Amino acid sequence: MTDRVEGVAKNEATAMVQRGINRRDFLKLAGAGLAGASLLGVAGCGGGGGQGGNGGPVEVTFATTPDPTGTFQKLIDQFNKENEGKIEVKYQQAPPDSSQFFDQLRTEFQAGSARINVFEGDVTWPAQFAAPGYVADLSDRFTQEERQKFLEGPVQSNIYEGAPFGVPWRTDAGFLYYRKDLLDEAGLEPPKTWDELKQTAQAVQQSAGTKFGYVFQGADYEGGVVNGLEYIWNAGGDVLDPSDPNKVVIDNPGAVDGLSIERSMVEDGIAPKAVSTFKEDESTAAFLNGDSVFLRNWPYVYAQAADPEASKVKQEQIGIAPLPSVSGEESASGLGGWNLMLNAASEDPVQDASYELIKFMTAPERQRTLAIEGSYLPILQELYDDQEVVDAVPVIALGKEAIQNTKPRPVSPYYSDMSLRMAEQFNASLDGETPPEQAVATLQEALTEIVKQGQA
Ligand code: GLC
Repeated sequence: MTDRVEGVAKNEATAMVQRGINRRDFLKLAGAGLAGASLLGVAGCGGGGGQGGNGGPVEVTFATTPDPTGTFQKLIDQFNKENEGKIEVKYQQAPPDSSQFFDQLRTEFQAGSARINVFEGDVTWPAQFAAPGYVADLSDRFTQEERQKFLEGPVQSNIYEGAPFGVPWRTDAGFLYYRKDLLDEAGLEPPKTWDELKQTAQAVQQSAGTKFGYVFQGADYEGGVVNGLEYIWNAGGDVLDPSDPNKVVIDNPGAVDGLSIERSMVEDGIAPKAVSTFKEDESTAAFLNGDSVFLRNWPYVYAQAADPEASKVKQEQIGIAPLPSVSGEESASGLGGWNLMLNAASEDPVQDASYELIKFMTAPERQRTLAIEGSYLPILQELYDDQEVVDAVPVIALGKEAIQNTKPRPVSPYYSDMSLRMAEQFNASLDGETPPEQAVATLQEALTEIVKQGQA
């Protein structure tokens, strides 16, 4: 397409998204001629969101995964108070599981629904929602200058075809938690390589009688994908070609090594067999119960250790290090976290009001509240230099290296389909059902097919 035609198609696509057709379908229809598209009777099924008519406030519906700390609700109440008579935010809680929330939103967006106007989305979502035109392009609102204030990784997670489709809200990084007290007693340092992790785990298991050496998230779900990817990256492998997101490269020696190391944790008796069923909660419970020397998990676990009802292990017994790698050189940790996005199908005053909420939620003061009261890692650079925040949220200092070396999961409009296949194959390899070589060969074919289908 020429630039001008592409531009016209984009505008038309945006309009059609508002009337309930996605951009990819539109582009397909556009191939058959625009008149053809209207003849197909693409009726409007959008709407939703309060209109702010009759002088009442503009109603905005905001959806997030559950927040056990109550901080989100507190901030929403504050926003509503400050905007009384102008904007009223209604809060909707979504399922805690990222994939379930994604499926729910995708179903609504496919139907052109604007029931939810603004929502928090996992870092893997922007490309998938941007490609079909479900979320608004924020280029004019979240400007280059604004973006400078934010951490780079989370900003990048929102960029699709050069434009931002979300604003970072809270970030996550994979940490290696270790029992500092037990390592100190044994005169051992935190490991830099996977071999050292195994040796250290075994030595401590023998000297202190700890039940497991290492626990992590190995179940067949999104968290299992992040863990599998970390093993792959830290053995020098990758899933997609970094310079061509449509080129699948997972059938490489690094990926085989990574999955073999993951599997060897069970074979060598470092991790329990049940680790292939563990999600965040099961692995955290084992570690905080004093049953494991090491744990891979997100930053919030450290905050949980402050609560004696939730944890037998105290914060001062816990150390945090970057994940090990094969070479012992700098390792990558999976970038997690959540961004704020706008439903492209919302009507005009609602869209502006929804962005007001995004600005409010990502402003320095709210980021401080989220960090101090909710233990959420901030996404603004400046808060990492703010002593009050650093003192109140110890993982910021402890996890600094891991936070600085995060790597995003494959950025692709087809990520959710890819993720399902990776979850299944990584889990089968960990379980010993499928040799790692076979798992990556299966994935090479399956992921290539997903990209091909998506482009058809
Ligand atoms: C955390 C991360 C998210 C990830 C999920 C996997 O919530 O922030 O990015 O997808 O864990 O379980």
